[in-house]
Amino acid sequence: MDKLWGGRFELPPHALMEQLGASVSFDARLAPWDIRASIAHARMLGACCIICEQDANAIIDGLQAIGEEIAAGNVEWRPALEDVHANIEALLIARVGDAGKKLHTARSRNDQIATDMRLWTRDQVDAIIEHLAVLQRVIIQVAEAHLDVALPGYTHLQPAQPVLLAHHFLAYFEMFQRDKERFREARRRINVMPLGAAALAGTPHPIDRDMTARELGFDAVSDNSMDAVSDRDYLIEFCSASSLVMMHLSRWSEELILWNSSAFGFIEIGDAFTTGSSIMPQKKNPDAAELVRGKTGRVYADLTALLVMMKGLPLTYNRDLQEDKEPVFHASDTVQLCLAVFAEMLGVIQVNTARMKQALEQGFMAATDLADYLVGKGIPFREAHHIVGEIVRHCIAHNTTLEALTLQELRRFCEAVDENVFQALSVETMLARRNQHGSVAPDRVREALCAAREKAN
Ligand code: ARG
Repeated sequence: MDKLWGGRFELPPHALMEQLGASVSFDARLAPWDIRASIAHARMLGACCIICEQDANAIIDGLQAIGEEIAAGNVEWRPALEDVHANIEALLIARVGDAGKKLHTARSRNDQIATDMRLWTRDQVDAIIEHLAVLQRVIIQVAEAHLDVALPGYTHLQPAQPVLLAHHFLAYFEMFQRDKERFREARRRINVMPLGAAALAGTPHPIDRDMTARELGFDAVSDNSMDAVSDRDYLIEFCSASSLVMMHLSRWSEELILWNSSAFGFIEIGDAFTTGSSIMPQKKNPDAAELVRGKTGRVYADLTALLVMMKGLPLTYNRDLQEDKEPVFHASDTVQLCLAVFAEMLGVIQVNTARMKQALEQGFMAATDLADYLVGKGIPFREAHHIVGEIVRHCIAHNTTLEALTLQELRRFCEAVDENVFQALSVETMLARRNQHGSVAPDRVREALCAAREKAN
């Protein structure tokens, strides 16, 4: 048997039409979800006496057997049948005969694909949330193992003020926490069942949508059949949340690449996630981080592809919608791979605390605290800011650092300075004094780590 629905046509499709329309090369991966949804549909058709119980059982057994054959790699997909749905239906009819021809009662490929995609996306969302939680747990481990390590914090990529490495890492933890929340919120909207919308207007058969929804784990059934077969918002949300994860990973990649450079020397990324150069024997390149950064643009492209695909579509189903799959699959695969890579890569990063300490001594990072110190001596902040600016200029001219100035030298700029200034400008004091909730003081960071352990579950 060739076409499942050729009655209307005198001529077969042009070979190019087949090539253009076939989606089974990429939608075959939906087979397990398609079979699951078809089994639930067949069971409901039987329970509602729309088909007889015998036929329902033959369909269910047949679909289960086909699922096993597909999993074992024993099925040859036929592009002439267009998509995964028609391929599985043809396999079913070939296996169980006339009963198989009744499976498609009271449904259309329009509500079928909408249901499959929601089931598939729901599973990917769960997997991504777990990937994010794993990465968060690695972040906590690395932060805990380096609790006393300080380094410069940057604004404008210029050394600004000292921070704790743990605080820096926990900044990414927060980003991934919001990413998890975004996926959880998207999941609520994903988990609504379109099945029963049929082609667009519903079906005259006395189906029980709630029964099918329960069996498939949907929280609700869709409220409008025309919306149900044509809505792809949830895929746009999925790609949007994925894009934000990639944006976060890409920012961190950029930073790890900088830190790994010989100019910074803050970290060394382990051999397992670096590669050599074909010509320069000395090289060890941070390719994993670079590839994550590079792939980010392609996930943004997936989001853009969906937005553009949707923008001109009238209700209801249009074949353009078949083009949703490749971008969504790509975004999902990429984000999961990159999250897994990051969780492993962070585990093999060597932190060079000596280089971080050295950097702390170089960037005039105590300048703000020196100004605050002068404020403590009764000098208005604007004036204090100016005095410290002059001191910094003096240091630059004499190729020295704030910390290296003697009390006498400091007093030449401002009489109010006394010997406790050195204590005020130590890294420990600067960190400890930033003691508000959310700030970098070691006590606050320890608290943040406790809270993070809760959130990472
Ligand atoms: N392969 C199709 C898709 O992905 C399934 C739905 C086909 N529906 C139709 N009316 N041609 O969108």
